[in-house]
Amino acid sequence: MPVILGIESSCDETSASVCVDGHILSNVIANQTVHEAFGGVVPELASRVHQQNIIPAVHKAIIDAKVSKKDINAVAFTRGPGLLGSLLVGTSFAKSFALGLNIPLIDVNHMQAHILAHFIDDPKPKFPFLCLTVSGGHTQIVKVNDYFDMELIGQTTDDAAGEAFDKAAKMLGLPYPGGPLIDKYAKLGNPKAYQFPEPQIPGLDFSFSGLKTAFLYFVRDKQKVNPSFLEEHMADVCASIQHRIVTVLINKVKKAVKETGIDQVAIAGGVSANSGLRDALLEAEKKWKWKVFIPKFEYCTDNAAMIAIAGYHKYLKGEFVGQEVSPLARWSV
Ligand code: KG4
Ligand code: ZN
Repeated sequence: MPVILGIESSCDETSASVCVDGHILSNVIANQTVHEAFGGVVPELASRVHQQNIIPAVHKAIIDAKVSKKDINAVAFTRGPGLLGSLLVGTSFAKSFALGLNIPLIDVNHMQAHILAHFIDDPKPKFPFLCLTVSGGHTQIVKVNDYFDMELIGQTTDDAAGEAFDKAAKMLGLPYPGGPLIDKYAKLGNPKAYQFPEPQIPGLDFSFSGLKTAFLYFVRDKQKVNPSFLEEHMADVCASIQHRIVTVLINKVKKAVKETGIDQVAIAGGVSANSGLRDALLEAEKKWKWKVFIPKFEYCTDNAAMIAIAGYHKYLKGEFVGQEVSPLARWSV
């Protein structure tokens, strides 16, 4: 019955989780609100807040799970990819914790962990499956052959889907991170009210920068004619831009399903919390007979439960790292 402590600190969420024999017993997430005023995550501030939050988060995760520190068999931590200063806090904490308790240390790839969040609850996908991983920093289609055998078959050539949401929101005067707010307004609007161009990128890769520019000009031109355009049409504008981003994602996944012959499709990462994307995937399941896997909301955005479950599967394989380990700002799946 291995007990694994998971630590996540790659961006602006400090999170700790306890996993006992593959079951998540706690998942504590401390959000950082200091970045709101800056319209994006400020790396230097993020590391400082991680430093303040990490011990209380771990303490609460252990209490919530009703385990004792001495029961913990290994500590798993996000080694990358992410902001180096933020990763250093989690990595250093995990190393000290492992050293203090004389237990093994497990390094986890954050993007693999987003995908492995599908192994927390039932139903679990069977290998191989496809995963659309969409976050603030990444947009990828991954062919998942096994827990730690993943092939990147498509990715963004510029902005990530989460960035496209956040930048569109910024143009609409919404606070950071704007993705969830676009989602909220979109629920009240007509997705066909305004048409935005679908980027024509070959293969399974994505591009969102052209769409971003088209959206910028659209907002500017509409406001020139009617300064209160956004106040009057916020819901339709949000529904329309969300609809375009979601169709770009779904069309590429459709292509990947066709090319690989794999029709088990999972979504992961912060943008998988988007209701438009979740609905589109459920529709695809009906229309094209895919088997789809959509994570619980709490396992979409950054969390340590996904790090703990990934750590559990590495623990079973006996894959540990030594005290010389250091974080990696860039690290492919
Ligand atoms: O995976 P995540 O929590 O952090 C990264 O590793 O990047 O993803 C954060 C991203 C942000 O861009 C945020 O705006 C987006 O996920 N996001 C959403 C929604 N919830 C989070 N985007 C659209 N709709 C949502 N409901
Ligand atoms: Zn993430």
